[in-house]
Amino acid sequence: MKKPMKTLARIAVLLFSLSLLPAVWGEDLPPGEGRETVMRVCTACHDIDAVPRLHYSREGWANLVSSMKDMGADATDAELTQIVNYLAKNFGKVQQAAKKINVNSAAAKEIESALGLTAKESELIVAYRIKNGNFKDMDSLMKVEGLDAAKIQSAKDQIEF
Ligand code: HEC
Repeated sequence: MKKPMKTLARIAVLLFSLSLLPAVWGEDLPPGEGRETVMRVCTACHDIDAVPRLHYSREGWANLVSSMKDMGADATDAELTQIVNYLAKNFGKVQQAAKKINVNSAAAKEIESALGLTAKESELIVAYRIKNGNFKDMDSLMKVEGLDAAKIQSAKDQIEF
């Protein structure tokens, strides 16, 4: 169920708050495919000063753009895809510097979150190291049974011994 009055009230509040900001009109939007589409489609209801300050994952931008579409953004599906691509590329999630983790001294929980393993996998690593002593290199780490080799290989730059 749409609630037009509520949406209108929200638009009014938003337009009012945006009008207090200096108009930049896309000054901060870097060049690239999709910029013109963003400028045209996304400025129809409000200024887009807030956009360059946001850092969303691709999924986050896709959700936002689809809710703008629901609110009435006038764009074809192809244009919406182009907008999501542009926003995800230029205002994507800030990549956290890969944190290195020492598989010989870190707790299972730390290994799990740093390397993106399951709780079970990180516990297998810790159990193996308690039983067999420290790992020396990737080869010795690969001897742990029950690990997803591809996953470990892809996290290799974050692993220390
Ligand atoms: C049909 C009018 C309309 C169009 C077109 C539109 N928006 Fe919006 N936008 C709104 C309204 C209304 C809100 C306030 C929504 C709310 O507070 O829930 C909003 C809010 C936002 C916000 C703030 C959201 C937040 O969570 O703080 C961002 C960012 C945004 N829009 C980006 C965009 C982008 C990018 C586009 C182009 C794809 C776009 N808008 C097109 C109506 C529109």
